[in-house]
Amino acid sequence: MKKILITGGAGFIGSHVVRRFVNNYPNYQIINLDKLTYAGNLLNLKDIEQSPNYKFIKGDIVDAAFIDQLFSKEQIDSVIHLAAESHVDRSISNPLEFVMTNVVGTVNLLNAARHQWKSEYSNHRFYHVSTDEVYGSLGETGLFTEQTAYDPHSPYSASKASSDHFVRSYHDTYGMDAVISNCSNNYGSFHFPEKLIPLSINNIKNNLPIPVYGKGENIRDWLWVEDHARAIDLIFHQAPAGTTYNIGGHNEWTNIDLIRLLCKIMDQKLGREPGASAKLITFVTDRAGHDLRYAIDSSKLQADLGWKPSLQFEEGLEKTVDWFLNNEDWLQSVTSGNYQSYYNDQYGKR
Ligand code: NAD
Ligand code: DAU
Repeated sequence: MKKILITGGAGFIGSHVVRRFVNNYPNYQIINLDKLTYAGNLLNLKDIEQSPNYKFIKGDIVDAAFIDQLFSKEQIDSVIHLAAESHVDRSISNPLEFVMTNVVGTVNLLNAARHQWKSEYSNHRFYHVSTDEVYGSLGETGLFTEQTAYDPHSPYSASKASSDHFVRSYHDTYGMDAVISNCSNNYGSFHFPEKLIPLSINNIKNNLPIPVYGKGENIRDWLWVEDHARAIDLIFHQAPAGTTYNIGGHNEWTNIDLIRLLCKIMDQKLGREPGASAKLITFVTDRAGHDLRYAIDSSKLQADLGWKPSLQFEEGLEKTVDWFLNNEDWLQSVTSGNYQSYYNDQYGKR
C-alpha cells in the first residue's frame, strides 16, 4: 500500500485534497499531518475520518526530529505538502512565523524525505503546493506563466517563494523527484473566514460592515477549490519530475465587483430587499504592499494534462454561499474563541 503524507490536510485546500485522495484511492494509505493551528480544523474531515485508508497525526513541521521520526516510523512513500501559514495580513503582523513554517518547515520535510528515500527517487515524489503570489503583481495586461520571474512583495509570498526555491534546489542538487504547482485564489467550502469571500459572507449574514481594502480595484483570479484538488491529483500522478505547473481559474474579478455579486446572491438567499447587503460595503485602509493584479496562464496544465476549471464563477459562488448558510455550526465554531480578537486587531485600526 502506497503511503502518502499530506501536510496541512486539516486546512481549507488540504481537507479537499485529503478527501479526494481518501475517496478515490482506496489502495493508498493517506496520512494527514497537521499542527491544528487556528486554520486547521478536524471538523473539515468529519465525513472521511473513519475511512480505513486514513490516519490523522497532530504535529509541527518545524520540529525536525519529529518529522524525521515520522518518515521512518510510517515509511512515507510520497509527500503532498500544503501545510503553511497562508494569510497575507497575518504575515504583515508576524513575518517570522511564516519563515518558520513555510521555509524551515518545508526544508525539514525535504531533509526527512531525502534521508528516508536514501537518494532513490523512482517510487517517491515530493509535491510542493504553492501560490501565484510568488510572481508578484501584474499591471493591467499579461498573465503569469511558469517562466515569469519571481518577485514576491509580502512576507507571505516571500516565504512561499523561498520554499519553492528550496524544493527546486533539492531536485537540481540531490535528484529528488519534486514537482511544484502555483495556484491562484481558491474559494469554496471550509474556507476560513479571515479571507475575503468567507469573511464577507459571514459579515453580510450578521449585518456587519464588509471591509473592502483601498478602492476595491485589486484583481484576483478565483478558482473553485475542488478544481484545484483535481489539478493536484493530476500533477501528483502525471507530471514529469522537476516540473512546475500554474493553476488558475481564467476568472478575474476586481474585489468590489466580486463583493457586489456576493451581495446580490446573499440578498436573494436571505430574502432581503435587492441592494440591502451592498449597503454594508465599507472602504477601509488598504493592505500594505497590496499586489494590484494576479492572473494565471494555465495553458501548460491544460495542454499536458487535460485539466480545465469545471465551474463558472457565478455558479461556484452561489454553491459556496449555500454551503456557508447550511453549515452554521461550522461557521460558529471557527468564529468563536480567538477569531474575535484577531478581527478586532486587524480591522479595529483600519
Ligand atoms: P490554510 O491556512 O487554510 O491551512 C493551512 C493548514 O496548515 C492548517 O490546517 C494548519 O493547521 C496547517 N499548519 C500550519 N502550520 C503548520 C505547521 N507548522 N505544521 C503542521 N501544520 C501546519 O491554508 P490553505 O488556504 O488551505 O492553503 C494550503 C496551501 O495552499 C498553502 O501552502 C498555501 O500557500 C497554498 N495556496 C493557497 C491558496 C488559497 O487561495 N488559499 C492558493 C494557492 C496556494
Ligand atoms: O493568490 C493566491 C493566494 O490567495 C494564496 O496564496 C493565499 O494563501 C490566499 O490567502 C490568497 O491571498 P489574497 O491576499 O489574494 O487573499 P485574501 O482573501 O486575503 O484577499 C483577496 C483580496 O481581497 C485582496 O486583494 C485583499 C482584499 N481584501 C481581503 C480581506 C481579507 C479586502 O478587500 N478586505 C478584506 O477584509
